[in-house]
Amino acid sequence: MTQHLAAPLSGTSDDDAPDHRPGWWRDAVIYQVYPRSFADGNGDGMGDLDGVRRRLPYLRDLGVDAVWLSPFYASPQADAGYDVADYRAIDPMFGTLLDADALIHDAHALGLRVIVDLVPNHSSSEHDWFRRALREGPDSPLRDRYHFRPGKGADGELPPNDWESVFGGPAWTRTTDPDGTPGDWYLHLFAPEQPDFNWDHPAVADEFRSILRFWLDMGVDGFRVDVAHGLVKAPGLPDVGAADRLRLLGTADGGTPFFDQDGVHEIYRQWRRILDEYPGERIAVAEAWTPTVERTAHYVRPDELHQAFNFQYLSTSWEGAALREVIDLSLAAMRPVGAPATWVLSNHDVTRHATRFAGPSGAPTPTQTRDPGDRTVGLRRARAATLLMLALPGSAYVYQGEELGLPDVTDLPDEARQDPSYFRADGQDGFRDGCRVPIPWTREGGSYGFGTGGSWLPQPPTWGGLSVEAQTGDPDSTLELYRSALAIRKAHPGLGAGTAVEWRDAPAGVLSFTRPGFACTVNTTGTPVRLPAPGRFLLASRPAGTEPAPGEEFELPADTTVWWSL
Ligand code: NOJ
Repeated sequence: MTQHLAAPLSGTSDDDAPDHRPGWWRDAVIYQVYPRSFADGNGDGMGDLDGVRRRLPYLRDLGVDAVWLSPFYASPQADAGYDVADYRAIDPMFGTLLDADALIHDAHALGLRVIVDLVPNHSSSEHDWFRRALREGPDSPLRDRYHFRPGKGADGELPPNDWESVFGGPAWTRTTDPDGTPGDWYLHLFAPEQPDFNWDHPAVADEFRSILRFWLDMGVDGFRVDVAHGLVKAPGLPDVGAADRLRLLGTADGGTPFFDQDGVHEIYRQWRRILDEYPGERIAVAEAWTPTVERTAHYVRPDELHQAFNFQYLSTSWEGAALREVIDLSLAAMRPVGAPATWVLSNHDVTRHATRFAGPSGAPTPTQTRDPGDRTVGLRRARAATLLMLALPGSAYVYQGEELGLPDVTDLPDEARQDPSYFRADGQDGFRDGCRVPIPWTREGGSYGFGTGGSWLPQPPTWGGLSVEAQTGDPDSTLELYRSALAIRKAHPGLGAGTAVEWRDAPAGVLSFTRPGFACTVNTTGTPVRLPAPGRFLLASRPAGTEPAPGEEFELPADTTVWWSL
């Protein structure tokens, strides 16, 4: 059994024409580019839009449908660009608006759609509104566009309520008035450099409608909405009253006064009307960390956003029963609202799944860990997890570098770290730099082909062997596995969009399901199991043995997924 496609499938097309099928997003594979770490076009050690543009043919050849770019807007980079100072300008370190225009144009010419990040919960503290609000003092009308409040205590020396920042520490910072005396406090659910907007103020809503139109007019195909669950706060900003610190990647339990408030949905209804005014099915995907998939489904009701990330799936450990449960719950939650389920294993905020899954069998997989685990086991499971993800009905997200099987860089020296959550939490938390290390393109070279001028985070010496160059053409490589899987997914009528899978009986720890004309078997255990081959072999996450004939018993190796055609 090789990992390769047994026989070519009909229907694969070489032509680069954009995909005009209605509902393109219902089964799209969307590739996340983290611009700082993808490709450096000008040799300054920092990735940029020109670098991304030059590498677009790689993404076309990989077989993804769309590219989502993390923020590239003008920003002091207190949170790697999730602190936006000007929503209509490109940060000079990433390029210019002309570069963005060229990138969008070239992507479209290659048949790739472009999704940009929108950060509406907070701006940078360097945003013109916030700077003026501070400069003009307590009476500035611009303060109403954020959450400024007097402090508690005799001299206002205590924060206005007990909310904690997702990055650690209080969610409030005290200002100094223009005359030098201590003044009001302002709210920031993330870093102090990221003041939260007050979405009850009409100017905020107007501004974001205008920003949406600006980028839609630039030709983007959609938006990834940052902290989509956070825009609206409970009236009066009541205390949480709980001693628990709320963490970025933990779950916000329902009723948190700053997350998942029902009021956010009216904002998305308005945005949907704008998206629908534009031709070509422009979409929005919610980054909404909610306690349940049912709450997530609210964001994708027919008149709201198109997709929401399935963080429940991302947070599930490599364990058959748990995976089956989250798959069933996700599909069931999306069915009544008619939205596609989405599947995601990695992104720029969590430890890469090749490392998350590298722990002992059955161990929980926290979304962030510094434990490198067993690299061989982690990679084997990551490949199996990917084939499972790509076999499920709906749309899938791939984070740059996962197609190379990259592990998280767990041993970054502290002095190299940049993640604000690392510093706010006294080094106890915030390991997001480990998944943000620039990716390797070539076997050799100062930054393994990332650029000509080094790399803003140090790359490990193993990077060259994991590079695109090293893996291309090697039939057993993770890169070729992704290429084959994405090609089959595109060509096989049973894959992609859909609302259900049909489970078949299987031993404990093994998942077996069918979709029309297609079957998938997944062994999440550490021991091989014997099963009858459900159909004609298509692809396996782990090269092993000979290909069985349909119905013949075969051995499904440990931590392995196999695809079959029925
Ligand atoms: C979610 C983003 O993915 C993360 O990187 C960022 O720190 C927070 N939102 C705040 O914008």
